Amino acid sequence: MTRKTVRIAMNGVTGRMGYRQHLVRSLLAIREQGGLDLGGGTVLWPEPVLVGRRAPAVEELARRHGLDGWSTDLDAVLSDDSVDVYFDAQVTSARPEAVKKAIAAGKHVYVEKPAATDLAGALELARLAREAGVKHGTVQDKLFLPGLRKLRRLVEDGFFGDVLSVRGEFGYWVFEGDRQPAQRPSWNYRAEDGGGITVDMFPHWEYVLHELFGRVTSVQAHRATHVRKRWDENGQPYAATADDAAYGIFELAGGAVAQINSSWAVRVHRDDLVEFQVDGTHGSAVAGLHSCRVQPRAVTPRPVWDPDQPSSASYRDQWQEVPDNQEFDNGFKTQWELFLRHVALDEPYRWDLTAGARGVQLAELALRAAAEGRRIEVPELAP
Ligand SMILES: NC(=O)c1ccc[n+]([C@@H]2O[C@H](COP(=O)([O-])OP(=O)(O)OC[C@H]3O[C@@H](n4cnc5c(N)ncnc54)[C@H](O)[C@@H]3O)[C@@H](O)[C@H]2O)c1
Repeated sequence: MTRKTVRIAMNGVTGRMGYRQHLVRSLLAIREQGGLDLGGGTVLWPEPVLVGRRAPAVEELARRHGLDGWSTDLDAVLSDDSVDVYFDAQVTSARPEAVKKAIAAGKHVYVEKPAATDLAGALELARLAREAGVKHGTVQDKLFLPGLRKLRRLVEDGFFGDVLSVRGEFGYWVFEGDRQPAQRPSWNYRAEDGGGITVDMFPHWEYVLHELFGRVTSVQAHRATHVRKRWDENGQPYAATADDAAYGIFELAGGAVAQINSSWAVRVHRDDLVEFQVDGTHGSAVAGLHSCRVQPRAVTPRPVWDPDQPSSASYRDQWQEVPDNQEFDNGFKTQWELFLRHVALDEPYRWDLTAGARGVQLAELALRAAAEGRRIEVPELAP
């Protein structure tokens, strides 16, 4: 086996996503499996170069995982010709400037979503990457979740007939931070720091709907800040200025309607933290992170409305589990592998910065739709 090394500058790797999903569960996991098999007797070996603002934190991470490369000087890392790829999982507001520098230095770029805080910024990154001729990608991890991959199997098999509607329910209770620490970083709850559930989650809903059911052609949204006071990482109280819930309605090319609730102020009474119910003329499905259940038309029980009797049927038992039939790897790792194959072998890769810009566009139009209290058309972005 020939080992080909790809050096990847990873910025924001002390954060939740950068560390757990991208470093540990993706790149280090690829190394643990012996590298990425490119065929023809070659394996690709990712060599992370950790980048961050605080030397002790970055150095400690490098030491913990036996990595030689780490730095607090992004410019120096980008001027190193042996670095091939720049990855960014910083807070969203810090991303565009760093990605621009990486593109100018000729690096391939792979970024967390949203690529930028506004559409103009996201489109600019896509344009700069295209003009520089570098490879580029945006994280669209939900597509690679087992539950959604099973849903895609059903769509591609024509299971649903005509898709009529998609109901998405995402969310869980995020602790305020006073009596129990919050599970998410405090910047998410401050609009002035780029927080808010609409800008966070609508980019995900854009690619999920687009890839599985059709492009989003219009949006309506209602946003709320249900929990107005929270406590930060240092136990200090702060005013929550960002939306912690967003209720969206989307029309899709092809005629289906999607309605997705996103909330960090809801307690979970469902089987998973996100669930999508799809109803079609020939059958329905409910997909979560891992599982997916179906009810075909021919075996749909006849529901009868009877307010005088307690319900005797267990509606959940009337659904059938879609089998795995394959091994599902971590979704972030699966997407990393596809991106690295794109870089190393020039294989096609459609989850690029333009695809990322579509997500930012939907979030931006949803903010406007909510502010103006109306339905807004979503124009198709030029490829
Ligand atoms: N794909 C997903 O499902 C998913 C989920 C959550 C978050 N995200 C995205 O990942 C990115 C990081 O989110 P996170 O939850 O890991 O955040 P986090 O707060 O845990 O990590 C942020 C990282 O950015 C660094 N950083 C750089 N400049 C900063 C600044 N000015 N202020 C604060 N931190 C700064 C921090 O040191 C840290 O390494 C965000 O863009 C977010 O939208 C994606």
